[in-house]
Amino acid sequence: MSLTVGVVGCGNISRFHFSGLEKAGARVKWVCDLSEKTAEPWAKKFGARWTADFRPIVEDPEVRLVDVTAILPAHKPVCLAAIRAGKAVICEKTLAETADDALEIVKLAEEKKTIFYTSYMKRFIPAVEQAKALLPSLGRIVTTHIRAHQCWGDLWEAAPTEGFAHTPPGGMSGLRKSYGGGILVCGGSHILDLIVFLLGRPRTVSAAMHVPEGRDYDLLAAALMETPNGVVHFEALSHPLNRIGFLRDGWDERIEITGTRGRLELFSALWDKPEWKACLLVHTDNATGQAVEYRYAPESPFDRALAFFCANIEKGVQGAQSRFTGYDVDELIATIMKSSSTGQTQAVHWRTGA
Ligand SMILES: NC(=O)c1ccc[n+]([C@@H]2O[C@H](COP(=O)([O-])OP(=O)(O)OC[C@H]3O[C@@H](n4cnc5c(N)ncnc54)[C@H](O)[C@@H]3O)[C@@H](O)[C@H]2O)c1
Repeated sequence: MSLTVGVVGCGNISRFHFSGLEKAGARVKWVCDLSEKTAEPWAKKFGARWTADFRPIVEDPEVRLVDVTAILPAHKPVCLAAIRAGKAVICEKTLAETADDALEIVKLAEEKKTIFYTSYMKRFIPAVEQAKALLPSLGRIVTTHIRAHQCWGDLWEAAPTEGFAHTPPGGMSGLRKSYGGGILVCGGSHILDLIVFLLGRPRTVSAAMHVPEGRDYDLLAAALMETPNGVVHFEALSHPLNRIGFLRDGWDERIEITGTRGRLELFSALWDKPEWKACLLVHTDNATGQAVEYRYAPESPFDRALAFFCANIEKGVQGAQSRFTGYDVDELIATIMKSSSTGQTQAVHWRTGA
């Protein structure tokens, strides 16, 4: 029997979820979006029913999975209703508008034993999986440099007067409304997830952020963190340089993990061109003196993530990815913001198990 799914949110990111669900053999029975026009192509493609209200989906006994790809403020109500209705849930990142909300969601999922994933798909990049497998060969990990430098055009020199990055006086920018903020939540959240995935939950955070005058989103977030596996230098930056990065396309996201016996360098490729851009991993081993390059066929990490999630849901198991993933990142985001606004190092108050 194929997995019956309702997808809530049919905007930009949903195409990657529809692709992953289709490849995983799931049956899309419902598509939900406030806009019928936005949902229509997907309803047609899958022979699915459209609804503007997510409730018929969570009330449908045939639906086993609710996939939440709507804008950030919709995540909490949809996730809570789906969990209460006994559905498995996949939710796009970031999980919630605050760490308190994220905690409420994952605690309910834990209590109800719901299969629950926040879709941080970069864990599923083959180079990231390979890096994780190679970590033990590094000896004692002492320091990690991790950054997401993304080309968003020039938002530094002048405030936009229209479009997604325009903050109207007394109002909210599109960035804030849909995603909850700027580069920290959009780009930084993924690499915060990779810090937890590769090195464990940070214990302390000392951060600085730049939010331009009159705007409701940040362009830079930097932090020094202590983890169970050494110190992490973290940076998320929105910049206008469209020819930097290892593929010279403005995307400059990399991870460098240094241990006592070797180093890993991971160069990630632009996330929304997975069909033709692939990552590079370099492992330098101190004993042999060799630097081994791992190259990969371009492949969508969304397809890999959805395949993993759907297979587990069909089997009725949570599997290797914890329900707390989305909470972990939202707690780190809150701690970075607090450290930046107070100018003080903050201990991270983990309020639930890893
Ligand atoms: N994984 C990634 O790298 C990545 C990249 C971009 C966006 N995202 C995340 O994906 C989510 C959606 O982002 P997007 O870029 O697709 O935004 P989008 O604005 O393109 O699409 C969101 C859709 O949600 C719909 N919507 C809003 N409220 C709704 C509700 N209550 N019920 C049903 N539909 C509703 C809107 O009509 C819109 O069509 C956000 O959480 C965002 O952070 C993740």
